[in-house]
Amino acid sequence: MTFSISAQDPQSKARTGLLTTDHGSIQTPIFMPVGTAGTVKAVHQRELETDINAEIILGNTYHLYLRPGLDILRQAGGLHAFNGWRRPILTDSGGYQVYSLSDTRKIKEEGVTFKSHIDGSKHIFTPEGVMDIQRTIGADIIMAFDECTPYPCDYGYARQSMEMTHRWLDRCIDRFDATEGHYGYRQTLFPIVQGSTYTDLRRQSAEYIASKEREGNAIGGLAVGEPAEEMYAMIELVNDILPADKPRYLMGVGTPANILEGIARGVDMFDCVMPTRNARHGILFTTEGIINIKNEKWSRDFSPIDAGLDGYASTFYTKAYLRHLFKADELLSGQIASLHNLSFYLWLVRQARAHIEAGDFMPWKNQVVDRFMQRL
Ligand code: GUN
Repeated sequence: MTFSISAQDPQSKARTGLLTTDHGSIQTPIFMPVGTAGTVKAVHQRELETDINAEIILGNTYHLYLRPGLDILRQAGGLHAFNGWRRPILTDSGGYQVYSLSDTRKIKEEGVTFKSHIDGSKHIFTPEGVMDIQRTIGADIIMAFDECTPYPCDYGYARQSMEMTHRWLDRCIDRFDATEGHYGYRQTLFPIVQGSTYTDLRRQSAEYIASKEREGNAIGGLAVGEPAEEMYAMIELVNDILPADKPRYLMGVGTPANILEGIARGVDMFDCVMPTRNARHGILFTTEGIINIKNEKWSRDFSPIDAGLDGYASTFYTKAYLRHLFKADELLSGQIASLHNLSFYLWLVRQARAHIEAGDFMPWKNQVVDRFMQRL
């Protein structure tokens, strides 16, 4: 993987760059649609590629390991071959899903034992095992195994958890560096900064992660319920320590405002279920603000879903028609809404990149951020 910075905003830490993997290049800052189980829910790969030009998607170790399982993924030739997505993929390590999804889990130094949310079967994730699984899935960018602490989290727990995440990182690196990808293309391993909302822990973790000198770095443990201002303070602190010449990935974030504020603080990569999950519940992000398309007020609004965008789903269908599909419980409702919301998120980062390059990112951000977040 290579990363080069192409423009730096004069008034903030925002920058544009180009990240190149064996499956192609990604312009940063980028939003990565979440494809948990090998599919971005309700969206075809063709739509991702041609309608909204997604440059990279996510997969989840936890889900793919449980279903379809490693035998099938290996026999398919990895996730790219299995789902037909030809561009870059990033997999999360399970260091988040195992805490949020599995019924019972025990965290020990060796790893995490948990019960499958699908059939209750027992499993263990260790740092070494999770590296092996992500080798078999075959994503271009794979994540270290970590513990994402909840919020609030007492200082003692946050510190010992962070220290364990650091020891797990060393084990991840040892395993990753001793193995090779199975399918003839390169993979890279990103470590994850933890430390909850404690400045000294965040500083310590960022220094530890930076010292590993990997090709990119991630910030975890945020957007777990803390106030946005606290999240922004942590991002600032951590990004001052993480190397500026490598991509920085803020995990699981967030709203349009969170993304713009993250970009202003030097974040290059984002992922979140928000656009796709909210879409399935009829919550749409638009260039005018956030709308609940199920509301009666849209029943006779025959204007496009979002005339400010140029994507197919956003401009071809009307608000009234999409509302009807939701009220009638039609499957197409989730498809149109998901494609539209992703279209908005990718437009958002494309706009951010253009304004960084033009040198007016901050005035643009300050002008649009309240509008994108207002409820219509
Ligand atoms: N997704 C959102 N936050 C996190 C985190 O802290 N760790 C991991 N592995 N994934 C995440």
